Amino acid sequence: MWPATVLTLFPELFPGPLAASLSGKALEQGIWSIRTIDIRDFGLGRHRSVDDTPFGGGAGMVLRPDVAAAAIDSVRGDAPRGRPLIYLSPRGCPLTQQRVRQLARGPGVILLCGRFEGLDQRAIDLRGMEEISIGDYVLSGGEIPAMALLDACIRLLPGVLGSANSAGEESFEHGLLEYPQYTKPRIFEQFEVPAVLISGNHGEIAEWRRREAERLTCKRRPDLWALYENRRRSAKTPGSQEDPRRPGGKDEPDSNA
Ligand SMILES: C[S@@+](CC[C@H](N)C(=O)[O-])C[C@H]1O[C@@H](n2cnc3c(N)ncnc32)[C@H](O)[C@@H]1O
Repeated sequence: MWPATVLTLFPELFPGPLAASLSGKALEQGIWSIRTIDIRDFGLGRHRSVDDTPFGGGAGMVLRPDVAAAAIDSVRGDAPRGRPLIYLSPRGCPLTQQRVRQLARGPGVILLCGRFEGLDQRAIDLRGMEEISIGDYVLSGGEIPAMALLDACIRLLPGVLGSANSAGEESFEHGLLEYPQYTKPRIFEQFEVPAVLISGNHGEIAEWRRREAERLTCKRRPDLWALYENRRRSAKTPGSQEDPRRPGGKDEPDSNA
């Protein structure tokens, strides 16, 4: 059982879309579990206040450190040792497939969803929180980022994906975007699937897929392509263990590893 604890001002949003499809089935099967903690329960005063104005001025409100810390401390005691405590934040390190894999292999996660202008820095520092972003854009709360992170992890938990190979072939797994996929019908609006895919020649299919994955990565993601090229160059260096094309080869370098 992979336990997820989510600290949020909107516990009613969970499990939300995670109750459907693969993650929903896995939840029913007890492969993972979710517990939500309402940060408001730790709010102050008659109105259970959780936020206040920013020191130094400026727009909006900030989630108070004493309230957030009390909510965190309420779950940390009974959490399995080493469970990462993550604050979803646009300022965080970008979430990568490599970090997702690490989290899915670990003892679960504790996620704090921010709101307003974010969380007082002292709560982040004093509770040793890892800050993770799901992309370079600003959402109004951490709940959707938390769901995105959970979904990415859950599908990698043993027993969740139908085929053991499904995850290994996907985008980012070998530092490349995935090759284009085709299914029936063979001809759709006069466009036929690439002949190699119906040739039955597994070697040629694998080679075509690799070339397509490289072409797409080079065109769409120069950042990933540069890393891939570096690894390919170092793989050619005598004595190097790296091979970017080898399934299970070394992971792409990662800023939040
Ligand atoms: C309106 S945002 C705060 C944005 C903050 N003032 C800033 O400029 O970085 C409120 C909350 O949404 C969540 N959030 C917004 N965008 C996010 C992203 N790209 N990744 C992860 N969390 C995000 C965070 O929990 C954040 O505390």
